[in-house]
Amino acid sequence: MNLQLMDANLTTGRLQLRPCSRLDIEFLHTLWMNDRIRYYLFDDRIISHEESRTFIEASLNSFERHGYGLWLVHHQNQCIGFAGFLDTEAIPSLIYGIHPDFWGQGYATEAARAVLEYGLRILKLQEVNADVDEPNIASVQVLRKLGMKQVNRTLVNGRPLLYFSIEPDSEE
Ligand SMILES: CC(C)(COP(=O)(O)OP(=O)(O)OC[C@H]1O[C@@H](n2cnc3c(N)ncnc32)[C@H](O)[C@@H]1OP(=O)(O)O)[C@@H](O)C(=O)NCCC(=O)NCCS
Repeated sequence: MNLQLMDANLTTGRLQLRPCSRLDIEFLHTLWMNDRIRYYLFDDRIISHEESRTFIEASLNSFERHGYGLWLVHHQNQCIGFAGFLDTEAIPSLIYGIHPDFWGQGYATEAARAVLEYGLRILKLQEVNADVDEPNIASVQVLRKLGMKQVNRTLVNGRPLLYFSIEPDSEE
């Protein structure tokens, strides 16, 4: 399988997803620095423009090496968020975020489901993990709706973190 030649553009009922590019830096940095996005995504840390750029470079490398990375999520020609996998060198980790203006309409679930199905069915990933802060109820709910199962709970710096996992056979 030549991953670089595979069409990684994804379409769902309402959304279009395409691998993020260097041109997406302004959108992504602004989104990631939104106070309601960064609260859980970066433990409320302000990240630099350079750090955002590093995430995009990592995604580009990951698409080249593995066929997955971060996708930009579009709704009616408007960019509303991102979804994809972090390349952890071991098991890919599912990650997503939707601009608060669009919360509560099922977009995160729809986008995350598209990349998850692409990962499991097309890329034949044997396992996908996700970790989420326990109080991040919306995100926990998204993972549950995707059929991911909680496999662990730990305290990290005193904050409860839940670990979820899914394998192709357990996909619902
Ligand atoms: C988590 C996030 C992506 C969810 O986006 P979204 O588009 O609103 O998600 P969806 O609409 O697909 O699903 C959210 C679910 O959580 C539920 N939910 C949201 N807040 C809730 C709350 N306080 N209590 C109970 N359920 C809640 C919604 O009802 C919905 O479930 P339902 O469809 O069964 O009703 C969004 O809040 C976000 O971008 N957060 C910041 C970034 C982040 O935390 N990313 C996850 C880390 S990997």
